[in-house]
Amino acid sequence: MSLIEDLQWRHAVKAYDSTKKVSEEDLNKILEAARLAPTSSGLQPFRVVVVENQELKKQMVKGALNPEVMRDSSHVLVFAAWDNYSAEKIDKVYDYHTDVRELPRGRFSSYTDQLKVIYGAQTAEENFAHTARQAYIALGLAMAQAAELKIDSTPAEGFSSEVVDEILGLKELGLKSVTLLYLGYRDSENDWLSKMKKVRIPMDEFIIKK
Ligand SMILES: Cc1cc2nc3c(=O)[nH]c(=O)nc-3n(C[C@H](O)[C@H](O)[C@H](O)COP(=O)(O)O)c2cc1C
Repeated sequence: MSLIEDLQWRHAVKAYDSTKKVSEEDLNKILEAARLAPTSSGLQPFRVVVVENQELKKQMVKGALNPEVMRDSSHVLVFAAWDNYSAEKIDKVYDYHTDVRELPRGRFSSYTDQLKVIYGAQTAEENFAHTARQAYIALGLAMAQAAELKIDSTPAEGFSSEVVDEILGLKELGLKSVTLLYLGYRDSENDWLSKMKKVRIPMDEFIIKK
C-alpha cells in the first residue's frame, strides 16, 4: 500500500479491542519514526513516554475526554516537550552531534550562540510553544508509521496535562506533556467512526495557488 492509501485507511479510532496488544517489534518501529522526525535546529526538544501499564493508564484517564479509549488502547505514547530552552540543553545536544560526527566540540558554536540569544530572549511559555510544535511533527510520523503497519491510533489532546505530568513525574525531567497517541487495534463494532467516510475539504479549497 502507498503512503496515501495508509493515510486513507487510518482514522482516529474511538474504541479499541482491549484484548489485542501491539507487538514490541511494531511499537519500536513507531517509536523510531518519531525519533527520526526532523526538528528545528535538530534539537529534538521532546521525549516520548511509553505507557503500557494498565494501572498507570487508569490513573491517567482522570480528566480525559475519551477515558475508555485511553484505557482500552494497547499503549499510550505521551509526547512531552522541554518546558524551556537553556544554554545547557543546547550545548548538550550539540556536543552529542559533534561527538557522533567526530568533529571538535564547539564546531557549531557560532550557530548555537545565536540559538541561545533567540531562546534566551523568549519566555518559557513561548519556548514551550516552540518545543511542543516539534513534538507534533513526530506525532504525525508516528501515526503514519502505525498506519503502514495496520496499527490503529488516536491522537489525543483531550487529557489533563496536569494529571499526566504529575503521574509520570515529567516536571522533574523538565518536560510537559503536549499530546497523547493511543495505539492498538480497533473494535469495529463499537468504533462509531470506523463506518463513516473520511472527510477532508476539497483539494482546490485546501491548496491556495499563487
Ligand atoms: C492534535 C490532535 C488532537 C486530537 N485530539 C483528539 C482527542 O482528544 N480525542 C479524539 O477523539 N480525537 C482527537 N483527535 C482526532 C481528530 O478529531 C481527527 O484526527 C480528525 O477529526 C480527523 O479525522 P481522522 O483522523 O479520523 O481522519 C485529535 C487529532 C489531532 C491531530
